[in-house]
Amino acid sequence: TRPILIAPSILSADFARLGEEVRAVDEAGADWIHIDVMDGHFVPNLTFGPPVIQAIRPHTGKVFDVHLMIAPADPYLEAFAKAGADVITVHAEAGPHLHRSLQAIRAMGKKAGVAINPGTPAAVVEPVLDMADLVLCMTVNPGFGGQAFIGSACETIARVRAMIGPRPIRLEVDGGVTPETAPLVARAGADVLVAGSAVFKGGTYHANMAAIRAAAEA
Ligand code: DX5
Ligand code: ZN
Repeated sequence: TRPILIAPSILSADFARLGEEVRAVDEAGADWIHIDVMDGHFVPNLTFGPPVIQAIRPHTGKVFDVHLMIAPADPYLEAFAKAGADVITVHAEAGPHLHRSLQAIRAMGKKAGVAINPGTPAAVVEPVLDMADLVLCMTVNPGFGGQAFIGSACETIARVRAMIGPRPIRLEVDGGVTPETAPLVARAGADVLVAGSAVFKGGTYHANMAAIRAAAEA
């Protein structure tokens, strides 16, 4: 079976100790570090930009999976690449030239991701699959951690999985992922699971991530 990757979202980390938090999830078994960038325009919340990503870059060697919830994204892609992003994901809903955005990310030697909201049909990603290294299916409406999982998104995940076919594209899910919902998204075809509140909620990061991984692989 396909190995599942766990990507803790630092949106739910303690921002006053961000370097330590990144180190802690790295040592606790995170595969990727998921980094949520919000602009108060594409989504109704604000987080941080390239300087914060650059500041945490020396704290881990893990893949920086940067989820851009910003519109426009194109003027900022180079700054995120220079700050240390490895995967840069743009929303299909965030701009009129998705193909151009993905091409720009790949031209900088980074992995290119395309994200879709729960209300966006899977078919939107089909024309750009050969430009993408990752498809991110949102399982909440983006903007906040700790929201309830939207079950109908599993149909979109399954459709995207079928469209991907044999291509070496990662299928990531983000929002409301817990040990209870992980089996649903894994069965639908997801192979990268983002989790914020379920990892940083307390207890140990190792146990929290191991519980999600075990549930997804069961
Ligand atoms: C939502 C963000 C997510 C968020 C997930 O807008 O894109 O990455 O941090 O948080 P949980 O896992 O708590 O739903
Ligand atoms: Zn995210």
